Amino acid sequence: MKPIIQEPKMLVRIMAGAIILLLAGNIGSYLVLSARISALAGSMASTTDKLQLAIDQTHQSLSSTLTAQEQNVGALQQQLGGFQSKVGDLSGTLNTLQKLSQTDPELLKKYSKVYFLNDNYVPSHLLEIPPAYEYSDAKQLLIYSNVLLHLEAMIEAASSTGIKLYAFSAYRSFAEQKALKGDYTVVYGAGTANSFSADQGYSEHQLGTAVDMITTGLGGALDGFDRTPAYQWMLNNAYKYGFILSYPKNNGYYVFEPWHWRFVGLKLAADLHTQGKNFYDLDQRTIDTYLVNIFD
Ligand code: DAL
Ligand code: ZN
Repeated sequence: MKPIIQEPKMLVRIMAGAIILLLAGNIGSYLVLSARISALAGSMASTTDKLQLAIDQTHQSLSSTLTAQEQNVGALQQQLGGFQSKVGDLSGTLNTLQKLSQTDPELLKKYSKVYFLNDNYVPSHLLEIPPAYEYSDAKQLLIYSNVLLHLEAMIEAASSTGIKLYAFSAYRSFAEQKALKGDYTVVYGAGTANSFSADQGYSEHQLGTAVDMITTGLGGALDGFDRTPAYQWMLNNAYKYGFILSYPKNNGYYVFEPWHWRFVGLKLAADLHTQGKNFYDLDQRTIDTYLVNIFD
């Protein structure tokens, strides 16, 4: 039987042709596809770039909005801080005013021939000085209530170093001062009495914050107190307890009274001690600034 295609070479040629045609077709498709892919890749790249640009712009805009908002918050916080500090100032002022309204305005006035307390003036709170701190039990001494603790602390501190200190006289009413001054005037004459004893209404003792201090070895007299270790101790330490010497040597009001100590508060007493000044050297306006803190 004869083969259908008798010429094998012919068959090969046909097949090769077919393969070539097939390949050519595929190559064509491949080229078309490849062109499409490149176009797509290009388009994607450009889309990606645009997206990136849009993202960058959005980011920049968001970040400047955020910065602006942060600045706003900062400015608001600053305003709030200023407001809070004003509220703080106001409440401090209110506290000071309230404290002042509860503090006797007479307590730091200069009662030596300058200011006058009338016969109705009695300190708002007086307490008895415990007998252990009094020199004599002949008369119960009274003192301004807030001053008692300071007096006791001072006497205890002195005692712990072997110094004996006692209160000899403290609060004196207008009537008591009048009687005392009258007695002195009879005994010494008005001139001498005026040099060491205040007229009624002008004595620091009427405030309840002044105390005459005494020590042992003087036979119950105030004279000579300045030659005792107790006086030296007072000079060096009384200010720590808020007490000052009202009438030092050469003061313009009375003779030197080393025994007479007035409570003016820890701050004023300390400032006077540091500055080496006396209470009556200061003007009343300066003294008044200490009133609000007299019992701090
Ligand atoms: N010895 C003082 C001045 C007084 O009497 O208050
Ligand atoms: Zn006195």
